Amino acid sequence: MKAIVCAAWGPPSSLQLREMPSPEPGPQQVVVRTRVAAANFPDALIVAGKYQARPAFPFSPGGELSGEIIALGAEVRQLAVGDKVVGLATYGACAQEVAIDASHVVPLPADISDEDLEIAGSFMLTYGTALHALKDRANARPGEILLVLGAGGGVGLAAVEIGKLLGMRVIAAASTAEKLAAAREHGADETIDYANGDLREQVRALTGGRGVDVVCDPVGGDFTEPALRCVGWRGRYLVVGFAAGAIPKIAINLLLLKGSSLVGVFWGEFVRREPALHMQNMTQLFGWLQLRRIRPLISRRYPLSQAPQALQALLDRQAVGKLVILPQQVD
Ligand SMILES: NC(=O)c1ccc[n+]([C@@H]2O[C@H](COP(=O)([O-])OP(=O)(O)OC[C@H]3O[C@@H](n4cnc5c(N)ncnc54)[C@H](OP(=O)(O)O)[C@@H]3O)[C@@H](O)[C@H]2O)c1
Repeated sequence: MKAIVCAAWGPPSSLQLREMPSPEPGPQQVVVRTRVAAANFPDALIVAGKYQARPAFPFSPGGELSGEIIALGAEVRQLAVGDKVVGLATYGACAQEVAIDASHVVPLPADISDEDLEIAGSFMLTYGTALHALKDRANARPGEILLVLGAGGGVGLAAVEIGKLLGMRVIAAASTAEKLAAAREHGADETIDYANGDLREQVRALTGGRGVDVVCDPVGGDFTEPALRCVGWRGRYLVVGFAAGAIPKIAINLLLLKGSSLVGVFWGEFVRREPALHMQNMTQLFGWLQLRRIRPLISRRYPLSQAPQALQALLDRQAVGKLVILPQQVD
């Protein structure tokens, strides 16, 4: 089978397409023929050696996937060869076959369409994070105002859709007309181009000076302080990620003045520590997906050999919604 392989820490361009032996499942693993590997920010960080996990070389990046089970470990009972599944691993999905712990895959309906199999394999991380952030961490309530930074990106666009489903008024902030259009198409009530003009002033104008109740920030960097200043009385500021690179340093008197809270969001740890609530959230998300109440956007598909380009596009701030890799298409 073919795989994209990381043999030394570096940029996505250092990844190589190689012929690799098919993986054997461990006793509690399954082997999945990968239909989709989603491109996510942590995949690029793993390749650079800048993530918590530093796998032994050579390894394939790719943590989120869907596909079909083609082999079972000796101790796996609840799954069968032929099952369509989604899976969350730390790495390994940018390959035509991947061995993954059975506890990390969830079966899908046997008659799922190819289109939904692609979506299922690329929405759990971003939508799971956005739902956990808004519902479990911010206790978002209907009628509240939500400001989403990076609103055309993976987590951002998910937060726009879920904010609307929770009954919030959503202000989407992003850097290009294309990203803002995507946010509007996915339900944003108002949009702000924060590459042109002062974010704080624009939020002040849209909210009549009141400020917002919740900020969802997967971007960090220079946007965080002005966005924190947009928070109104008893607001909650969700610290989700640092796509811009820099980890902001904040004067905490800003929190005192608004009676507001800075709230950390760490979805991966939530999944590990609170599996029952995580499963409830997944049931909710798959239910919304079936009813088409959420419409995850896949803006670009890459063959396996172009997985490095997909990861580089994320780093270059080019992605709108999700980018996915199709491992069964090599070129
Ligand atoms: N805490 C958690 O549990 C959790 C879970 C999932 C992801 N994350 C983190 O959240 C962050 C965003 O993930 P994502 O999937 O939404 O990524 P994404 O799809 O690439 O979106 C990130 C957005 O950040 C903005 N951005 C600003 N400066 C950037 C830069 N220098 N490079 C790249 N993007 C930049 C871009 O929007 P504009 O161009 O509009 O500014 C971009 O759309 C990542 O750091 C990821 O690791 C955290």
